[in-house]
Parts: sequence; C-alpha cells; structure tokens
Amino acid sequence: MSIRLSNGTEIPIEMHKVRVVQKVRLAPARDRLRAIEEAGYNTFLLRTRDIFLDMLTDSGTNAMTDNQLAAMMQSDDAYAGSESFYKLAGAVKDIFGLEYVLPAHQGRAAEHLLAKTFVKPGHIVPMNYHFTTTKAHFDLAGAKVLELYTDEALNAESDCPFKGNMDLSRLRAALEKAGPENVSFVRMEATTNLIGGQPFSLENLRAVKALVEPLGIFLVVDGSLISENAYFIRQREPGYQDKSILEIIREIMAVADLCYLSGRKSCSVRGGLIATNRKDLYEAIRPWLPVYEGFFTYGGMSSKEVEAMAVGIREMTELEVAGASADAIKYFVGLLRQKKIPVVTPAGGLACHVDAMRFIDHVPQSRYPAGALAAAVYIASGARGMERGSVSMDRDSEGNDVPSDMELLRLAVPRRVYTMSHYQYVADRLEWLYARRRMIGGLEFYEEPPVLRFFAGKMRTIGNWGAELTAAFEKDFGTQC
Ligand code: F0G
Repeated sequence: MSIRLSNGTEIPIEMHKVRVVQKVRLAPARDRLRAIEEAGYNTFLLRTRDIFLDMLTDSGTNAMTDNQLAAMMQSDDAYAGSESFYKLAGAVKDIFGLEYVLPAHQGRAAEHLLAKTFVKPGHIVPMNYHFTTTKAHFDLAGAKVLELYTDEALNAESDCPFKGNMDLSRLRAALEKAGPENVSFVRMEATTNLIGGQPFSLENLRAVKALVEPLGIFLVVDGSLISENAYFIRQREPGYQDKSILEIIREIMAVADLCYLSGRKSCSVRGGLIATNRKDLYEAIRPWLPVYEGFFTYGGMSSKEVEAMAVGIREMTELEVAGASADAIKYFVGLLRQKKIPVVTPAGGLACHVDAMRFIDHVPQSRYPAGALAAAVYIASGARGMERGSVSMDRDSEGNDVPSDMELLRLAVPRRVYTMSHYQYVADRLEWLYARRRMIGGLEFYEEPPVLRFFAGKMRTIGNWGAELTAAFEKDFGTQC
C-alpha cells in the first residue's frame, strides 16, 4: 500500500510489523572488490556473507507470514495422499477457480513438463516475452520461441500502462504463417520479467484468447507474478478500480486454458504448480509428473512448502500483499528518477530496472553493459542486483552472441523484506556511481557454460576499472564502508 503524507508525497506503507530479523553485513569496498573478482564479475557467484542488500531476485526470498509458517508445522509428509496437497488443491479451486492441480518443485519444472508434453520439434511458441528458463526448455524441445510484444514494450522510458501486452496483428500473422498445427500453445507471462516486470491487460488477454480459440490453440498464462499483474490491472485498466484482486485473478484464470507458476514470487514459498480446468490438458501432463518431479500429491515440493503455498495463494489476494513489492518499487523508481538515473518506467512488478544502455552508453552490448553495471553497483553499495541483458542470452547455434533487446540491471524487491532507508541508501550510491559512470568499462568471458550461461559464467574487466572504481569510492567514503 502507499499512503499520502500531509506534505503531499506518497510513500509505501507496510501493513505488517516485523517480528523476526536476520542480520546483514556491509563489507568494506575493498572486500567487495575481492568478492566480485572471485565471482568472475557475476553477481550470481557472490556469497551471502559478502552481500549487504540482496536484490538479485524476488524468487524464494520473500518474507513469509506468520500464517504460512504456522501452516508449515501442520504438514503431512505422506508420500502419497498427503492432506497438505488437498489444502493446496482447495486454495487453487477457491482462488483460481481451477479444478486440476499438478504440483512441481518450481516454475521451470512446470515449464519442463509443458515442454515434454506439448512442445514438438518445428513448433512455434508465441508469447508476450520469453523468460530465460522458459526459452531454454522450449528451445531444447526443438521449438522456436516468438516474442510478439507491442512497439512500446522495449521503450524503456514510457508511460504505457500495459507494456506486457501481446501485439495482436503480429500474433495473427505468426499463426497464419506457421499453421495452427505447428503451434504448441500461446503463452502470456503475467508481468514480463525480462523487460521490466510489465503487466498485460485483461482486454489484451481476452483478445489473444479470441484469436487462438477458434484455431484450437490453447492459452497458457505464466502466473508467477499473477497478484502483481492483477494489482496493476486494478490500478490501470478502466473498469477494474472497484474490483478485488481475487475477482481479477479469477477473471484471468477464466480466460486462460492453463496456468503454471513459480510459487517463489507472488505466493512467497518455494515451489510451483500447473492448474487447469481442461481435463484433456491435465491428463496429457499428469503421467510425466512422477517421472520428473515426484508423486502427484507433492510433485517435488516439501510438504511444508505445499502447506505454505496453500496459505500464500489465499493471502496474495489481499490488496496490501499484492501491492507490497509494487508500491516499494514505485517508490524506489521514483527516487532514482529524481536523481535523473535512467530506469524502466512505468515501475513494474518485481524490481527496479536500471537502463544500462543509457547509464553507460559508452559500453557496447558486446561488452555486456548490464553485467558491468551490476558489478559496479555491487562495488559501490554492497547491493547485489542481476544482469538482465546479453549475458542472460545464450549464444545462437553458430556460436554468436545474441544481443539482448534491452540491457537492464535488475534490483529486485523481495516482498516485505527491505525498508525505505535501504532503497534510499541504494539510490544514493547509484547517484554517486552515475556521476562517475565513465569509469565503468566492459566485461569479457573467460569461462562460459553452453546453457543459461548467466548462472555460472565468469568474466573479467576490460582494463582495470573495478579497482579504479574502488579506489575512487574509498577516497569519498573511507575504507570502512
Ligand atoms: N516464469 C517467470 C515469469 C519467472 O520469473 C521465473 C523465475 C520462472 C518462470 C521460473 O521459475 O525459478 O521457480 O523455476 N524467475 C526467477 C527470477 C528465477 O529471478 O526472476 P522458477
């Protein structure tokens, strides 16, 4: 929730109190330099002990509620027939209005099951935008992912409320060209993760459905950030201001043929699921669940997480839960805009995204500007963000680098974890860095895995800019922070 102060400014206000805390440590800049060098300038390879504010991701890092933790104590560990599963199925039915549920250990496991069941060599899979794991699974199954976003989607600084919408004429043309029999399904991601957590509108979702349904193609919603997408619909789509988050989620689910999600985001647990009212789709996927994940009633999740997910699905329909990170992100983005730092607008659903292409416009894409900026921000602040640019794209079949559509440094906002002073601190260090942006240079790989290279690849700086930046920092702030 946001609240307006008497001087007119709007601030995010927490509708909860903090009862358990975890210590963090701000290592001195020199130690941060050593840590990022050891990590191959890849923030994924840093250790928690070297991180002050972990803004890598909002996945599995959210603060759980007392009710979720209490539910975990009541879990039923039965291998088959666990009561915990029936609580989850009950929540999916009550909230999503969906009958059939297949639990999976996380979102990509659900993607694997979908790929195994429906994605065939030579197929296309149209979507509003890809996510890394989604594309990896569909590519590995031999299909081509088509991203049919609107012109506005890649415009970093925009006031378009629904940059996650699908371009309907591009979709129509793609379906005609491929032929419906060569389309696995159409996928809509609830807030397009890689391009700034941007939502789709219900109007657009309905229009997509109207196009694909007569062709016998089914519509899949990736609902990992379903409550945030619903929150934006409520704020931004005409006619939805008086609807509840529950009603909007229900409407999305009623349009989709199948929903899968990573439970690590909106649901604030560590798990995933597939849910549908289409018995045919459910029965096609179901046999593979015990092969790859686990028995039908736990699907690779711990029973504790199954219990907490049942609670999380209900809780994410509360307005203050659905808006917890969205409102903090809006505040964070606002701080950076005041400091003239280039960020993706409108503020999105999972993170504040800094536009590295504009922040360090002297670093070409072949030198990975978003990766370089992630490392520089870590050196300057101890905050860990994530590269979402060309490092996150794997090479094509000829071994060429694939330049990403955008070069973003993602500073994720885990739900209910950080406070206004944390955002103010990071914004301040970013301002310091922006004034010295010419010091930041590029990166090159010296270790590069063939798939999802951003997770484990190692890079080095071109030139000695990491050490030079650290020296400049120490000059201004001393050697202790
Ligand atoms: N779909 C979306 C939209 C996601 O954001 C993610 C994960 C997945 C699928 C895969 O789910 O991690 O549970 O296997 N996003 C994380 C992130 C990793 O950091 O943005 P998973």
